[in-house]
Amino acid sequence: MIKPFQIASGPRVRFGSGEAAFVGEEAAALGMKHPMLLTDPGLSAAGVLTPIVEGLENTVPGHHLFEQAETNPSDESILRAREFYESNDCGGMVAVGGGSAIDTAKAMGILVTNGGKLSDYYGADKPANRVPPFITVPTTAGTGSEVTRASIVTDVVRQSKASIHSDTLYADVAVVDPSLLATLPRRFAAGALMDALTHAIESIGSLQSNPWTEALSMQAIALIGRNARAFVDNPTDLAAAGPIALAATLAGASFTNTGLGIVHGLTHPVFNFFGGHHGTTNGILLAAVMTFNLPAMRETYTRMAPLLAEPGGPGGSASAEAAIESVRAIAHDIGIPPSLSAIGVKEEYLDRMAIDAAKSATVQTNPLPADEKDMKKIYMELMG
Ligand SMILES: [Fe+2]
Repeated sequence: MIKPFQIASGPRVRFGSGEAAFVGEEAAALGMKHPMLLTDPGLSAAGVLTPIVEGLENTVPGHHLFEQAETNPSDESILRAREFYESNDCGGMVAVGGGSAIDTAKAMGILVTNGGKLSDYYGADKPANRVPPFITVPTTAGTGSEVTRASIVTDVVRQSKASIHSDTLYADVAVVDPSLLATLPRRFAAGALMDALTHAIESIGSLQSNPWTEALSMQAIALIGRNARAFVDNPTDLAAAGPIALAATLAGASFTNTGLGIVHGLTHPVFNFFGGHHGTTNGILLAAVMTFNLPAMRETYTRMAPLLAEPGGPGGSASAEAAIESVRAIAHDIGIPPSLSAIGVKEEYLDRMAIDAAKSATVQTNPLPADEKDMKKIYMELMG
């Protein structure tokens, strides 16, 4: 019997190569007046913004470009964005970039429409009012933030990541254009892709998983399994970039309804102590966590195995272990570092990191319980 479940309605998704040219039309349809175009530094120089800027100039002239979105945005950077929005009397947000630019817009938008301090909204379902009119345009194919109800921020005083989860954060429209991935450097393409794969696999393992989200996750896994290597080798190849861009968005739509698992619980302390790229760290951890979760996931991983087998390869057996090996092979082949020590993690910090990981909310949705000892063991296995 199918257990009761609920699916939140996210943004309308507009998918396809070249669709970024229609961001201006979407902004006009939402009634935006001189919107804030919020991006990562460097995207403008890389030419990624060109079709979006042209579209906005044709339809809602007088947008304000803010290029200071931070990687892993701090609460302070969000206050600066808010000041920019309000001092320019902006009326709408167009967030173009990776998860950081989009998460900055979400958190800023909540302050604009609800007032107060960011920490007032940490946790679930706190803001009363929706963000201003909001369009998301992902440029990394990883976080899925374009369709999620979450914003992850770095609280400078607490020196930790905090999250805001609410339906009020959903964008109105997500424009997913795989041609925007063309200039992605190889290591970011690889890290983002592993983030998307982690979202799909953690969502399917979540205790909140349901047949709807499983359909989204399985399709994301299949698209990544067939196209990961070709995409990272050449992000300009739309035959591979299209499936990867779609996979990231599908995985986002899945996990925003289910929560994640302890890969993310283990990754956040790594960032808090040592920094590093979120998706890359997930990519180091994913196969080891799948092995930990195997006793609860054998049947599901067995169904995943054919989807993850290397295209053109021998195929291998449809076993749960084969799925884990395929994840390890993808990470290896696209250049994910082999160990946590390779990204600078030091053994003397693992006890403190394990304590933090065991406190993560992701433990609540992981298919198996995990305590500090389990977390430490997984970290130790990956020290190389
Ligand atoms: Fe993630």
